[in-house]
Amino acid sequence: MEFLDLPQLVSAAGTVRLPGSKSISNRVLLLAALAEGETEVRDLLASDDTERMLDALKALGVGVSHLGGENWLIKGCAGRFPVKQAELFLGNAGTAFRPLTAALALAGGDYILKGVARMHERPIGDLVDGLRQLGADVTYLGNDGYPPLHLKPATIAPGVAVKVRGDVSSQFLTGLLMALPLTGEAATVEVVGELISKPYIEITLAIMARFGVIVERDGWQRFTVPAGSCYVSPGTVYVEGDASSASYFLALGAIGGGPVRVEGVGRDSIQGDVKFAEALAKMGAEIDMGPNWMAARAPKSGLVAVDLDCNHIPDAAMTLATTALFAKGTTTLRNIASWRVKETDRIAAMATELRKLGALVEEGEDFIRVTPAALNSAAIDTYDDHRMAMCFSLAAFGTPLRINDPKCVAKTFPDYFERFAAATKAAPVIAIDGPSASGKGTVAGRVAAALGYAYLDSGALYRLTALAAQRAGVAWDDEAGVAAIAAVLDVEFSGEEIRLGGAVVGDAIRTEEMSAGASKVAVLPAVRDALLFRQRAFNQRPGLVGDGRDMGSVVFPHATLKVFLTASAEARAERRYKQLIDKGLSANLPDLLADLVQRDERDSQRSVAPLRQEADAKRLDTTHLTIEQAVNQVLAWSREVSL
Ligand code: DC
Repeated sequence: MEFLDLPQLVSAAGTVRLPGSKSISNRVLLLAALAEGETEVRDLLASDDTERMLDALKALGVGVSHLGGENWLIKGCAGRFPVKQAELFLGNAGTAFRPLTAALALAGGDYILKGVARMHERPIGDLVDGLRQLGADVTYLGNDGYPPLHLKPATIAPGVAVKVRGDVSSQFLTGLLMALPLTGEAATVEVVGELISKPYIEITLAIMARFGVIVERDGWQRFTVPAGSCYVSPGTVYVEGDASSASYFLALGAIGGGPVRVEGVGRDSIQGDVKFAEALAKMGAEIDMGPNWMAARAPKSGLVAVDLDCNHIPDAAMTLATTALFAKGTTTLRNIASWRVKETDRIAAMATELRKLGALVEEGEDFIRVTPAALNSAAIDTYDDHRMAMCFSLAAFGTPLRINDPKCVAKTFPDYFERFAAATKAAPVIAIDGPSASGKGTVAGRVAAALGYAYLDSGALYRLTALAAQRAGVAWDDEAGVAAIAAVLDVEFSGEEIRLGGAVVGDAIRTEEMSAGASKVAVLPAVRDALLFRQRAFNQRPGLVGDGRDMGSVVFPHATLKVFLTASAEARAERRYKQLIDKGLSANLPDLLADLVQRDERDSQRSVAPLRQEADAKRLDTTHLTIEQAVNQVLAWSREVSL
């Protein structure tokens, strides 16, 4: 599985131009396709969900041309799709599946609509019931109430008032409303039960109006599309930035200092999720807003917990759940039952993953309650849900963490993590690599002490792995066996002391035998993989000095400063000889030199993470330097880069 390891963050600030809104993009595309005339759609969101809609429209014979950048030209078909028989695959795109179901059920063709397995678990029965009242011919191809669907030409029943449930997904009402003009009759929809996610209906009505169809409404209960309504292209439509995507960056500003400014949505937005900014303000964040921008910064006194009904911001509310990790007190997010039928069961997923980090979480059918705690690093699963991946990136303010399957963000925000990296500052790392006995351990330890940073002796992890393998009777060349030991290595570093399985290790890992063992297990790719996240988890505030062979190349490729510390083989053999003698151990200089040359060879010739100087590393040859001189040189370099 792919993953992305995030270091602990120090601060966030900057400006982010948002990608287009998913909700607006897919509604505009469908209405442009159904309209009379050509529509130029500008700033469309480029993502999986919009691609599914564009592909579907092309398959239906709609003229779709890419004008370059995020701009598209849609040749409307005036309510009659040229292709009358098609099978469409809509992935996990609810904003494509629901409205297309409604439009195609009334469009007079024979269509099959399918999606990924999760899409087939997301309910659509209430929409189908509504469509059937209008005379649609819909068959469930799998389970009743769920996709895939087979749609055949409808026999429109004139003058019916369609009843649709509003308490499962507002997308059912959206789909019906957008499709009603296709009946050619006056048509009314009555909402049964409490309508959830009302702001999304506002978006639907606003975009329908832009395409010339004015819906008459009686509060949130009755909506009537007048007879003779038909969509007409407004010419050019600009898609607003995505307000849900804005939530992650506003939260970054609120947690990480800020200001973080998002451009593309603001006070004049038609998207309900701009209200996320109000929720964040309730947590204490300082919010500024203009017509098409918003900015957030952290309050001096820190964020505070909230107890909030989130029905009006179901998507952005997920961002509050991870922001709650940094707020004083217990945050309760209520009225979020719709989370359970989204890309995944978001209440369950959120609770499971927050608990992995150490937070205290209580979940109910329609609420989640989060109490922060000191966070521990963990690998976060994302459940093929873009918002899970984006929400949990915020937790990096509390701990380094791993995001599994980070590319799921492509659903709505393909370059999210690049923008995230640009808006945040990670805890600094000084990576010191070099051959055995080059003095890098001593230098790294002293540099760390001088800067007040933590110190990672990565070689010790390989030595501990070799020792643990030996104790468990696993041979050093048994890749799977040693990797399994590395994956669950119970080590604790506290100051100079290292404990393995609770017991102090002392010099047991410093013998020549363990040097050889470490060098042997270090050539095994599975062992290196197993130790990777454990090493990255050291990338915490205020900073880290790591020494080893691949600190700058593999473990911390974005290190703030990379140093390649070396010395002649003879000088190194002599240093090791003195070390051993000082410890009262026996040693033989020619043997030490021969071993060292052999180990150098193995460390630099191996296929994974070989020892080599990175192009961006500074070389420090210590053959003729004292330790103080070497330490001072690294400290001087560290002052040149901004840590
Ligand atoms: O730095 P050291 O001598 O304690 O390292 C012991 C062994 O572990 C050495 O032979 C190389 C290997 N090692 C590695 O492959 N990658 C690292 N980052 C650190 C050590």
